[in-house]
Amino acid sequence: PIPVYLDCDPGVDDTLALAYLLASPNVELVGIGTVSGNTSAAQAARNTLDLLCLAGAPAIPVAVGAHDHLDHPYAGGAGWVHGDNGVGGVELPRAPGEPDARSAVQLLIDLSHEYEGRLHVLAIGPLTNIAHALAADPTLPARVAEVTAMGGAALAPGNITPAAEANVFNDPRAAAEALAGDWDVTLVPLDATMEHTLSEEQRGMLLADERPFVRTVGEILDHYFDFYVGTYGRRTCALHDPLAAVLAAGAVTPTRAPRVPIVVDVSDGPGRGQTIADLRTQRIGVRDHDGVRTRLVLDVESSIGQHLIDTILA
Ligand code: BDR
Ligand code: CA
Repeated sequence: PIPVYLDCDPGVDDTLALAYLLASPNVELVGIGTVSGNTSAAQAARNTLDLLCLAGAPAIPVAVGAHDHLDHPYAGGAGWVHGDNGVGGVELPRAPGEPDARSAVQLLIDLSHEYEGRLHVLAIGPLTNIAHALAADPTLPARVAEVTAMGGAALAPGNITPAAEANVFNDPRAAAEALAGDWDVTLVPLDATMEHTLSEEQRGMLLADERPFVRTVGEILDHYFDFYVGTYGRRTCALHDPLAAVLAAGAVTPTRAPRVPIVVDVSDGPGRGQTIADLRTQRIGVRDHDGVRTRLVLDVESSIGQHLIDTILA
């Protein structure tokens, strides 16, 4: 299995991604760091510990990461999407464990030594911790096999503003720095994630399971399904973070994922957080640009909703 460090802000779709990663035979989750985004970094760590305990998962270190973003303070989360506690308003049984004494940045750096050359970084929140880790240890990229990050919108509209996707909008400079790192980054933007959804019937399969953890994941999705009525016109949800998790696990290969330069708008204007990818030849097919190490996932043809459910229920 691939050793994975997960950087996250659970978060309803983060929770679904976590459930998938715990169940995937391709992945060994070796550490989790949290960041403010959907909720605060501290609340995200509480949610992660409670979810891991409910899942009966082996002791995976959970470390609290950055509360504030590089250029601005944490703005209070996205309660209208993820519920005020980040997990759809569901009260999770409180786990006895506490977060790791290290920061998420230190945990990531330590794991990069322990799993040198093999560690996969999967970032499904704002990229604040990743940027801090790069600044703290410029040799980090040499020890990381690959980075997969959910974020951005290339040709698709944004979701938090017309131009920007939430993870990048919450910390545009961190995203710019993570993308500029000397490592292979696969960016999974809204262009791909909005095409993958979960149905009410598939949520029902989680709710019908006898394991409390799996049932709770189904319950947590309820609030998120309500939010997405405004986007899809029906109760469903986009599979943002789960798609990034499935790709990091190598379970599915993207149909279209060119290596192209990506610039992040770090201004305070209406384009703030926009990810500007060089797709100028897209009508005839986008070529990989020489020397570019960022892959932009534009299309994943095989539908991942049922794969997620099957893996979690297995
Ligand atoms: C991303 O933002 C968060 O709300 C989700 O958890 C996901 O990581 C989607 O834009
Ligand atoms: Ca997330």
